[in-house]
Amino acid sequence: MEKTLVLIKPDAMQRGLAGEVLSRLERRGLRIIATKFVQISDELARQHYSEHEGKPFFPGLVDYITSSPVLAVIFEGTNAVSAVRATVGSTNPAEANAGTIRGDLGIETGRNLVHASDSVESGIRESNIFFDQSEIYSWNRSIDEWVFE
Ligand code: RTP
Ligand code: MG
Repeated sequence: MEKTLVLIKPDAMQRGLAGEVLSRLERRGLRIIATKFVQISDELARQHYSEHEGKPFFPGLVDYITSSPVLAVIFEGTNAVSAVRATVGSTNPAEANAGTIRGDLGIETGRNLVHASDSVESGIRESNIFFDQSEIYSWNRSIDEWVFE
């Protein structure tokens, strides 16, 4: 099944919205297989967001993502990458649909609450940046047969 990395970003942690974000993703039926509360270093931020190096917003993005600890979570499930991206909403919260996390809880791109992997490959790459294999659990829930066909 697909795996996707979610970061509950510093603004969401500062605003006490970690539970709200987790709850919305859990309620879709996605399974948590790893979690970690982590203070992202400059180096880790540059590695995680390497695709954006050199863009005008990159320095601000590094400052933002390193400004407080974040909650890193790997979710697993059928089509987990696209399901999480749909629930998170568009990058700019002002343009995100109501009903999405960013559309309901945010207003500016630079304070958009959540990171979500944008492809299956990114999900694997980013999960391996934040977690050792020993920290990722392979487990089944008794409800799984009522979520996954
Ligand atoms: P993320 O990687 O954090 O899940 O966000 P995303 O895929 O929706 O957006 P992406 O294009 O990957 O951008 C990464 C993060 O950089 C900040 N950003 N600022 N000022 C700007 O034009 C701008 N564009 C992007 C946002 O925090 C965005 O989430
Ligand atoms: Mg992205």
